[in-house]
Amino acid sequence: MPRTILITGGAGFIGSNFLEYLYRKYPEYHLIVLDALTYAGSPDNIPTDIKASKRFEFWYGNVTNDDLVSQLVSRADIIVHFAAESHVARSIFDNKIFYVTDVLGTQAVANAVVRHQKVDRFIHISTSEVYGTAHTAPMTEEHPLNPLSPYASAKAGADRLVYSYFASYHIPACIVRPFNQYGPKQHLEKVIPRFITSALLDEPLTVHGSGNAIRDWLYVEDTCRRIDKIMHAPIEKIKGEVFNLGSGFELDVLAIAKLVLEILKKPEDLLSFIGNRPGQVDRHISSTDKARSILGVEEGRPFEQGLEETIDWYKKNRGWWEKLLWMRHVPIMTESGKVEYH
Ligand SMILES: NC(=O)c1ccc[n+]([C@@H]2O[C@H](COP(=O)([O-])OP(=O)(O)OC[C@H]3O[C@@H](n4cnc5c(N)ncnc54)[C@H](O)[C@@H]3O)[C@@H](O)[C@H]2O)c1
Repeated sequence: MPRTILITGGAGFIGSNFLEYLYRKYPEYHLIVLDALTYAGSPDNIPTDIKASKRFEFWYGNVTNDDLVSQLVSRADIIVHFAAESHVARSIFDNKIFYVTDVLGTQAVANAVVRHQKVDRFIHISTSEVYGTAHTAPMTEEHPLNPLSPYASAKAGADRLVYSYFASYHIPACIVRPFNQYGPKQHLEKVIPRFITSALLDEPLTVHGSGNAIRDWLYVEDTCRRIDKIMHAPIEKIKGEVFNLGSGFELDVLAIAKLVLEILKKPEDLLSFIGNRPGQVDRHISSTDKARSILGVEEGRPFEQGLEETIDWYKKNRGWWEKLLWMRHVPIMTESGKVEYH
């Protein structure tokens, strides 16, 4: 059955990977992207054949624009809402835009879903950052929400906003909390691409604190497959539900830096340590039980394989990332009052 899918933030990292995944897998789907093309989004992230296709539309615009969002939602069967300010360190440096885009942008989408009752499902992309550091491991969807950074609190606001619209207006919403994502087309401000590109340039790999912050890593294509499952699950299984999207595989940041150096055959003396980031989450590890039992999600690829694929992409796409080098670092005031570039 032909379907129209609205993807907000479809020129960013996960959104553009998801657009390409859907475009190649479902030749009958009509795909609409709404994106404001902030520093984090780029038309370069959308392949040329997709841009030229009759079943693709790109709308340059802001997700907080109620009229525009309402028009696009009125035409959509399914909405997958990625658009957000997404970088923790940047939210510590300057946070207002995070509340505007992440909370009010989500409100604009949710209001439009209420107005246009024909939407089949509204998939809201939240984040595991809403949980804060793990009190219990692995973290289930019932873990308390203790956001530790302005980014995380803005996303927690959006996450609960969507739930409240489900409770008040019975919209067909589903909330997805991805853990740490990595893969092609991720901005250099994020840790894995920053490590890979620094190593390729023989520059220091700057590690926050002692590098023992632990995260749960999922390769972006495996994330796309899981969102696909949510798009196609019976509505009663997902409506009003929250799903973690994680691998259940944890690794600390220092181990990743070392692995990148090993794969690229670079010396360990490229490792360099700076102060810890304020609002740092010490440990994140996803329970995958709910996504497995209700959605039937499969295991993602092993981390080392995903990392090798990612490194390979950055090796082959130097032109894509060289123009982002100047935005790799964000100035952060640490607890000692020193300004460091994170
Ligand atoms: N990357 C991760 O590890 C991760 C983990 C968990 C959750 N998430 C969530 O997934 C979503 C996508 O993350 P990402 O890493 O692809 O982010 P990204 O920063 O790479 O992309 C965000 C996209 O949203 C667009 N955008 C920003 N503000 C906008 C606005 N006001 N109107 C319209 N478009 C706007 C940007 O131009 C960009 O294309 C976000 O909601 C993020 O919170 C990401």
